[in-house]
Amino acid sequence: MLFRPSSVQLLCRQSLRNHLKPSRFLPSACRTIKTLPSFSLEGKTCVVTGSQRGLGKEFLTAFALSGARGACVDLSQEGCEASIASIASELQETYPNESVPELRGYACNATIESDVKSTWAKIVEDFGKIDVLVTAAGIVDNVEAENYDGSWLFAREAGKHMLQHNIQGSIVLIASMSATICVRPQKQAAYNTSKGAVQMLAKSLATEWGPRGIRVNSLSPGYMRTDLIKGLLENEGKELVNNWEKDIPMGRMAEPHELRGTIVWMASPASSYLNGSDVIVDGGYTCW
Ligand SMILES: NC(=O)c1ccc[n+]([C@@H]2O[C@H](COP(=O)([O-])OP(=O)(O)OC[C@H]3O[C@@H](n4cnc5c(N)ncnc54)[C@H](O)[C@@H]3O)[C@@H](O)[C@H]2O)c1
Repeated sequence: MLFRPSSVQLLCRQSLRNHLKPSRFLPSACRTIKTLPSFSLEGKTCVVTGSQRGLGKEFLTAFALSGARGACVDLSQEGCEASIASIASELQETYPNESVPELRGYACNATIESDVKSTWAKIVEDFGKIDVLVTAAGIVDNVEAENYDGSWLFAREAGKHMLQHNIQGSIVLIASMSATICVRPQKQAAYNTSKGAVQMLAKSLATEWGPRGIRVNSLSPGYMRTDLIKGLLENEGKELVNNWEKDIPMGRMAEPHELRGTIVWMASPASSYLNGSDVIVDGGYTCW
């Protein structure tokens, strides 16, 4: 019988450096890393909105590293292609002897219904079956209200597709710890409210689609050092970070790659009984 390891990968020193920190875990030569096979996404297709940069790009990278094919959805085709090129280069470095899973880019405004419908149809045409949707497209603006309809529009298309084809899929809506707690000192009532709605949308869909085998959850990050946050700090003053870090029990913001493990767990069969949950990854911020 041919044994093809799923999540068990042969990694060399350089590629391990990207995945295991601190470096005391590094072996002196290549070795096999063992992990639960249920974390593997081999054979799955994952759609990630907002994946030309930031958390969405991290999620798509984590999925591809776990063996999935993927669709990068964002506002510009060039941005999607650049993101895919950078993900492909990380994959080649990590698994030098394996081919890169199929990754395709789609320009789409996630808040325009007709755009979402035609993009979803194109993704289905290209890939056939979709198993995972993550909605990471988003903005932060502490003055004007945001439009988060994008999460619903994509979730609706994914839900219809999964119901129609009897796919035991996983949908992860990206909310925020701001769905649970009012962060300080910035004033962001509109953001907090919209994230609360995203969290409740996930719970509602979980009750409607759970009986048909589709799991819907929300992932609520704390402060992650993405371009979005860097931009916000440029507008509002870098000293904000000192205030934030005082409120984080771990005493620091997170790097975007620190969500990779959580998203793979939520998308894969490793979380097979997770449904309607909001998973908060915030270094302990919401404890205080
Ligand atoms: N960074 C954080 O600290 C943090 C914390 C909690 C939650 N979040 C949430 O995570 C999500 C991603 O945040 P990020 O920090 O990666 O932001 P980011 O700005 O780095 O990336 C967001 C991506 O979404 C895309 N996008 C925005 N509007 C879009 C639209 N209408 N259609 C298609 N694509 C669109 C942007 O082009 C961008 O590539 C957001 O929903 C954000 O609210 C972020």
